[in-house]
Amino acid sequence: MRESLIIRIFPQILSCGSLLNQFQLNIRWSSSLQIRDKKVIQPEHSFKYADLSVRLAGPEQLQPKPNVSALSFGKYFTDHMLKIFYHEALGGWQIPEITPLENLVLHPASKVLHYAIELFEGLKAYRGVDGKIRIFRPDLNMERMNNSAVRAGLPTFIGDELIKCCCRLVSIDQEWVPHSTASSLYIRPTLIGIDPTLGVASSESALLYVILSPVGSYFKKTDENVGVSLLADPQYTRAWPGGCGNYKVGSNYGPTIYVQREAAERGLQQVLWLYGENSEVTEVGTMNIFMFHINDDGEKELITPPLSSGLILPGVTRNSILAVAKEWNQFKVSERTFCMDEVCQLLSENRLLELFGAGTACIVSPISYIEYIGRPLHIPTVEHSEPVYKKFLKHLMDIQYGVIPDHPWAIPIE
Ligand SMILES: Cc1ncc(COP(=O)(O)O)c(C=O)c1O
Repeated sequence: MRESLIIRIFPQILSCGSLLNQFQLNIRWSSSLQIRDKKVIQPEHSFKYADLSVRLAGPEQLQPKPNVSALSFGKYFTDHMLKIFYHEALGGWQIPEITPLENLVLHPASKVLHYAIELFEGLKAYRGVDGKIRIFRPDLNMERMNNSAVRAGLPTFIGDELIKCCCRLVSIDQEWVPHSTASSLYIRPTLIGIDPTLGVASSESALLYVILSPVGSYFKKTDENVGVSLLADPQYTRAWPGGCGNYKVGSNYGPTIYVQREAAERGLQQVLWLYGENSEVTEVGTMNIFMFHINDDGEKELITPPLSSGLILPGVTRNSILAVAKEWNQFKVSERTFCMDEVCQLLSENRLLELFGAGTACIVSPISYIEYIGRPLHIPTVEHSEPVYKKFLKHLMDIQYGVIPDHPWAIPIE
């Protein structure tokens, strides 16, 4: 219905070329995730939560809710979704709408299907110990999403407006937020270029949609205390300077599957992503990486690679761990590059204490083994009596599940 309307009025609207210039987005820069030059994108023209329309699923459209113990990542979806179309020829963003979860109808020439013009985000809603549902630092996801949109030639929007729409969506599907502090509801905002034209150019039409998926505990019962095993093979890289590794675009992920399969064939769980001649350690699987060690001055120090190189996705969990570690002030905290030679040397001198990944899916994931150009490296992360990775895990979960009440990072859903 909407598409046929667009086709009918498209020629008239195209003739108003100068009118379209009014929809040029105004971009202003500021702080927090520190992606490149500390920027926050706040376009003047955005969709607005106040315009949201809601079409609820009928009883026959409601899905049976799976048992929490049967949940695996991204397998089940809730009853509703959010959709917001963007058509430059119609003045930009259209009204946001919540509808029953339904398939998308796309023209086969849609740019997303040919040139991967798309990006996504991942955040979670948690049902706290007090029964309240909260989301964790969604402003940072919105900031990253807008930065990805600029890099992908897709339209930007006011992050707060999408947060409010997402909160409403979660509120409508609130019975899907697991009643368990080991599980959560994964929120997947996605922005795709839907222009039905094959030119490699920015998309004049786009669709922003949000789907929700209940997810179980990331760790199998034993994993949290056992640690993951990694393949570190310098012939593969995930990101490079000037590339897109620091944006959450889908095209970063597809090519990793081959390498992940190679790791699995060697009996290893994930990939440790390296870059360059010196095998810089960049990320692990789809997580940022942290190394806790005793430095050359004999002090305990937590390090993670810096965002300045453009090789690292600016993770919300990474940002939170750095902030918490600085607040605790119990050891030195640095953002600096480190290479596999340093990892090997620290290990040989018993100065490498812990290596762990950090991301929304698991919060922290301890690393216990790396296979690096045929060398088996045993990492003692899980062998300490009070490892720091566990302290971070507990602290962030306590914020997310409301054990620490009224924390400014945990936004309650009304
Ligand atoms: C490549 C990559 N690095 C790091 C992360 C962790 O980011 P966050 O903590 O925001 O989930 C993710 C997950 O989004 C990722 O895909």
